[in-house]
Amino acid sequence: MWSSKLAFILAVSGSAVGLGNVWKFPYITGENGGGAFVIVYLICVFAIGLPIMMSEVLIGRRGRRNPIATMRLVGEEESGSSKWQLVGGMGVIGGFMILSFYSVVAGWALAYIFKSATGAFTGTNAAEVGAIFDGLTANWPVLLAWHTLFMAMTVFIVARGVQRGLEQAVQILMPALGVLLVILLFYSISEGNFAEGVNYLFRADFSKLTWDSVLVALGHAFFTLSVGMGAVMAYGAYLPASASIPGTSVAVVFADTGIALLAGLVIFPIVFANGLAPGEGPGLIFQALPLAFGQMPGGVIFATLFFLLLSFAAWTSSIGLIEPAVAWLVERYEQSRVQAASMVGATVWVLGVGSVLSFNLLADFKFWRGTIFDNLDHLASNIMLPLGGLLISVFAGWVMCRNSTSEELDMGTGVAYSTWRFLARFVAPIIVLVIFLNSSGFIGWVQGLSNGG
Ligand code: PHE
Repeated sequence: MWSSKLAFILAVSGSAVGLGNVWKFPYITGENGGGAFVIVYLICVFAIGLPIMMSEVLIGRRGRRNPIATMRLVGEEESGSSKWQLVGGMGVIGGFMILSFYSVVAGWALAYIFKSATGAFTGTNAAEVGAIFDGLTANWPVLLAWHTLFMAMTVFIVARGVQRGLEQAVQILMPALGVLLVILLFYSISEGNFAEGVNYLFRADFSKLTWDSVLVALGHAFFTLSVGMGAVMAYGAYLPASASIPGTSVAVVFADTGIALLAGLVIFPIVFANGLAPGEGPGLIFQALPLAFGQMPGGVIFATLFFLLLSFAAWTSSIGLIEPAVAWLVERYEQSRVQAASMVGATVWVLGVGSVLSFNLLADFKFWRGTIFDNLDHLASNIMLPLGGLLISVFAGWVMCRNSTSEELDMGTGVAYSTWRFLARFVAPIIVLVIFLNSSGFIGWVQGLSNGG
């Protein structure tokens, strides 16, 4: 059990705030044209992500086991069917896939701690930071080493069981990351092209938005909140019965969204002031931020601290990605945590080699969405998480009876509860479905048929 409600909030926000906020949000916003994408992302976070987070926590607390066993147990209790455990199973696989590329990017952050500390960015221009980033990603043995180190760190902490030390550290280090971003914000306001950055982030031109971008925004809402794959469910399993699920979920969602928007506000003014391309891709923050650090007073210290905190945020998120699988192996096959964590870690590591090579040896090996890295990200983040979330909200809204959910949520049966139930029953599943059908081209295909081919 968590010692307190605060400990739970810290664990879930530790899982939510990570590379998704600081690395992925700015880079996919840049790739998808800014404002309109951001609005869709915000709608998805509040109308879909939040109710699904509440659903996950309440299901987790009811089942009090790993996500697979919890979905089986609560499913049997509510509907007599054990099939719902498949949703837990899909989540475990999704977590594997996400961690495999997440760890590679976390490795970049680790590498950047050392580059920062040795002053590699001092006085650099855009071409030079670009060359530093390209130099790192081209060097596959080095990338592999950082990926290996990050996976080892994750396995180590998960194998030791309760991540209490880390949760306590979250309490200090997350706010520190926030403070550092605010300091950077001052830099962006004074030295960056702030007006253009804000304009880019918030001025929505929906005419340019494609269904594919909408799908990416939806997927990212799930990714950034850590919902749709059972991570939050796994944490909910340890939540004391007295803690308020709506209150904690709202707190986490706001903190997570705040950090992402802050990161965006910091990065885009730097991007525009230095003539970088917003659609630069996964390297965006690794080029924009070092430019800023290289120019500001105390930049070496700030940069080192920043990448240290970013690596830490990635570390606390990686636990959420691996915990469902480890808890499942421990409960189901009575393995020790050390055994389970090592086995899962090794599997994820192997999968991660594909992402390491996507930036060098296999950079030209492209299919479907692009490199192996692109495909793992798209399949897990934009398809499996929303699908998992859809099934979780259907489960909480339709399969579980009103009494069970209102009892767990403990918000009475007034407007707040009805709103949650409406979002979980109708809004979340329907929006996810509509986005799936449109982005897959299905709707267009049907329209074509009805127009006579
Ligand atoms: N939410 C984390 C991030 O934004 C990633 C994550 C996804 C963690 C799913 C756990 C589960 O970086």
